[in-house]
Amino acid sequence: MRKGVMRPGHVQLRVLDMEEALGHYRDLLGLIEVERDSAGRVYLKGWTEVDKFSVVLRETDTPGMDFMAFKVLDDQVLEQLQGELVAYGCQVEVIPAGELNGCGRRVRFEAPTGHVFELFADKEQTGKWGLDAVNPEAWPRDLTGMKATRFDHCLLYGDDIDGTLTLFRDVLGFELAEQVVGEEEEKLALFMTVSTKAHDVAFIKHPEKNKFHHASFLLETWEDVLRAADLISMHDVSLDIGPTRHGLTHGKTIYFFDPSGNRSEVFCGGDYHYPDHPTVTWTGDKLGKAIFYHDRQLNERFLTALT
Ligand SMILES: [Fe+2]
Repeated sequence: MRKGVMRPGHVQLRVLDMEEALGHYRDLLGLIEVERDSAGRVYLKGWTEVDKFSVVLRETDTPGMDFMAFKVLDDQVLEQLQGELVAYGCQVEVIPAGELNGCGRRVRFEAPTGHVFELFADKEQTGKWGLDAVNPEAWPRDLTGMKATRFDHCLLYGDDIDGTLTLFRDVLGFELAEQVVGEEEEKLALFMTVSTKAHDVAFIKHPEKNKFHHASFLLETWEDVLRAADLISMHDVSLDIGPTRHGLTHGKTIYFFDPSGNRSEVFCGGDYHYPDHPTVTWTGDKLGKAIFYHDRQLNERFLTALT
């Protein structure tokens, strides 16, 4: 049952060199640089996003994800879910309003897979970038790079995905849109949604806790994904795989790496989900096809290149 969690709100990523990272997230992906804070973090957003920012980059000496946050409907929902997280047994920490510029208080908790998540209800709304609120044009004229429209989801690797499924489904109201199951019906991968998207966050079972696989950004068309592939070659960016299609979610995709080794995805299309839809299941013996629908086999990097 939906509980008032709306959508992914932001992800904070660790990068080794901020200027190189901006060459990736701003100039190549085409995210809009919004501002920098007193801690040196840089805030960015996709041009269609109404909130002030969705990606925060923090320079440090190890890559990976600090946390991913979901926006909830209002403060009452935030209070309610904070209480339910505590009652469920999560360690909950409240981050005060303003710790991220323009963001209200955040309720932070750790999932059984070791990843840090946050909920928040308020963030300054600055509107779609470069467009008027009234009579908006189709798109801003001065976009760069891949022209990423929004931060869409993360794929995360961790050990206790059964525990994380229970937490996200029973406490936070996510639905299991798609899954991969093994021979004993054990869960190998979860694609979870709180919207009509095929996934808002996904998990793959892995022996270590708290590993980051990719942050994904939505493009409009398959032509845009091909154009992204051209840009990856033009700028000699490290390519993982693609352009190709996923079996899971059926999105059309390309994976590549930022200069710190964090994987990015841009994609378009794919399945949709409503609360009455049954979970789509892929079986472990078809994992290659589930991940890379055309190649029908995994590349080693997909399982091992994590930050
Ligand atoms: Fe993805």
